[in-house]
Amino acid sequence: MRSITVHTSPAYSVQIGAGLLRQCGGLLREALPGQKTAVVTDSTVAPLYLSAVRESLQSAGFTVCSHIFSAGETSKNFDTLSGILEFLADERLTRTDSVIALGGGVTGDMAGFAAATYLRGVRYAQLPTTLLAAVDSSVGGKTAIDLKAGKNLAGAFLQPSAVLCDTDCLQSLPADVFADGAAEAIKTGILSDESLFALFERDALNVSPEEIIARCIAYKAGVVERDEREQNERRLLNLGHTVGHAIERCSQYAIPHGHAVAAGIAIIARAAERLGWTDEPIAGRVTRCLARHQLPVDSDFAASELADAASADKKRSGDTITLVIPRRIGHCELKTVPVAELRAVIEAGL
Ligand code: GLY
Repeated sequence: MRSITVHTSPAYSVQIGAGLLRQCGGLLREALPGQKTAVVTDSTVAPLYLSAVRESLQSAGFTVCSHIFSAGETSKNFDTLSGILEFLADERLTRTDSVIALGGGVTGDMAGFAAATYLRGVRYAQLPTTLLAAVDSSVGGKTAIDLKAGKNLAGAFLQPSAVLCDTDCLQSLPADVFADGAAEAIKTGILSDESLFALFERDALNVSPEEIIARCIAYKAGVVERDEREQNERRLLNLGHTVGHAIERCSQYAIPHGHAVAAGIAIIARAAERLGWTDEPIAGRVTRCLARHQLPVDSDFAASELADAASADKKRSGDTITLVIPRRIGHCELKTVPVAELRAVIEAGL
């Protein structure tokens, strides 16, 4: 088992290893000192892991209740959030009690948002069961729901009190769900260092997921520690996300997050290269690596549709929008462009 401490205030640990869900009660006891905990999960994950998690929590002395919502990005809305909040209130959770997010990115975002707002904030833990949640969304304290106008437009920052990544969960993931997580892991390689990116060019994700998750989390932890509320450096973690979120929204969320982000990374890498914003040709290398992990590297939506959808993005500020530009593997930069130029940038990458 590997352990990484995220030095936010307060600090918390991310533990990564096999079989952690079955031991979660003991592993969470110190981080979640309250008597009662509410496990929030979805209809895909509940039949796989909920009973083992409940059993372990009960053995460690927790009083456990659980709430299951319908799986999928289209559930990431006010109705589901309100269902979770009403459940916490019906269960009489108090300020010293806690929430546990058991599942992928959607579950983590929504259970986290419920924890951030219920009684103005209670402790919560993340138990990611997908690769995407393990390498990215379970760490850093971003919580959100989608609005009609776009993705993650309502949310809060609240760091979890603990994160447990059970690598056994990865074995049961369908190939396309695994690929979704590969997109965020490859994103981290492009941002952080050549040696991590090179591992993805050699399929290491399938061979040593524990090491890869640990490296991705260690990188993200450093960024989050330096810029917890995304005022500056943390914006780099949005590489591929402006176009990616636009693709998700244009497809009415039929294209999953990681697939959309992969296409978004490929499009911005090609655009950056063609517009002379890179230090070296990188688009071919990035595109080949994403395609090797069964990820899309293009979009059927027109540049105008994508630019329109992206103009509602959180990264917009007045008439400008800040894009993440990959200059070379291991080094990306923020570039602010007028919203009016976004369509031309996207067109250059299609
Ligand atoms: N997923 C990007 C971030 O947490 O900032």
